[in-house]
Amino acid sequence: MTGTEAIASLYRASKLTKYFPVRRGVLRRHVGDVKAVDGVDLEIGRGETVAVLGESGCGKTTLGRVLARLERPTSGVLEYDLGQGLEDVTRTSGSDEFAFRQRVQMIFQDPYTSFNPRQRVGDAIAELLSVHGMDSSEQRADRITEVCEMVNIRPEYLQRYPHEFSGGQRQRLSIARGLSVRPELIVADEIVSALDVSIQAQVVNILRTVQGETRVSILFISHDVGVAQYISRRTMVMYLGKVVEVLNSATLHERAEHPYTQALISAVPTMDETARRERIVLRGDVPSPINKPSGCPFHTRCSYVMEVCRVEEPLLRAARDADHLHQVACHLPEPPAMSPLRRQ
Ligand SMILES: Nc1ncnc2c1ncn2[C@@H]1O[C@H](COP(=O)(O)OP(=O)(O)OP(=O)(O)O)[C@@H](O)[C@H]1O
Ligand SMILES: [Mg+2]
Repeated sequence: MTGTEAIASLYRASKLTKYFPVRRGVLRRHVGDVKAVDGVDLEIGRGETVAVLGESGCGKTTLGRVLARLERPTSGVLEYDLGQGLEDVTRTSGSDEFAFRQRVQMIFQDPYTSFNPRQRVGDAIAELLSVHGMDSSEQRADRITEVCEMVNIRPEYLQRYPHEFSGGQRQRLSIARGLSVRPELIVADEIVSALDVSIQAQVVNILRTVQGETRVSILFISHDVGVAQYISRRTMVMYLGKVVEVLNSATLHERAEHPYTQALISAVPTMDETARRERIVLRGDVPSPINKPSGCPFHTRCSYVMEVCRVEEPLLRAARDADHLHQVACHLPEPPAMSPLRRQ
């Protein structure tokens, strides 16, 4: 799904926050919070792939973990389509929470740590299936064969232990394990970041094919602009726990309006002459998520900073172009022109 057509919502987060308390001293006094996710609005459609892009520490993994219900949000509302349209699932617990976990599966960067080294991979997938109620061992075996075919792993390999696979194969196996319980959403957290470029392409292509066949929605967390753009319909750019821009992935290079998104894009080496631009070097370091700047979180590093940026936080609003998927959180009256094409 790459067009701009409207699609039914599967999952919506509103004003979502996740703070980690910072405690000091013998009395473990609460002295502040790491504001890992700080007021995120997000909607994922059925069968849609949304990429989450941003530098290290901007809150991507924390957002994924909250959406997959591995962490409780500090505040905000989570709504999910359980069959009759979106309904509030923020406070589900017990058996409802357990059932929900089957709908949203998270896949991590390092599959070696998510598989038990002493358990054969086939048994690891069978265990997840039985936890989620597939009691018959024949049914489990059939399902495991089916998902292994989807990710091009030969069923006889399932007798092996995790260390007997290459990184790419292990990552394909964690995709297979996630898919085995027929989730509606996969949260894929930097799943190709640790792999060689050629293997990255293989894993991303498998995920794309699987997405086309099963219509599973994917939240693809990455710091790689090229990979995010290739796999997703929409890209959401995060900075210090906030969403600064949401755009159509197909036009990411031409339409980016936020100075931070433009800087991220300009840092990507490309073979495409028309997309090659002068690199924008960001000034200074990313501020601490404990002491965030007032106003716009990006103002301390922005070349276009205005007085209002230091005091007033910009809200996500429709971008200047006519694309209804495009939203940006920036005070600038006009988006900065993208840097000129680099002459070779
Ligand atoms: N359990 C935790 N306790 C305290 N602070 C945490 C915890 N988990 C994450 N953080 C902090 O929250 C912020 C966001 O972290 P997160 O891992 O979500 O970022 P990220 O965008 O996934 O980074 P990376 O690209 O390096 O994976 C960081 O400052 C991190 O140190
Ligand atoms: Mg992370």
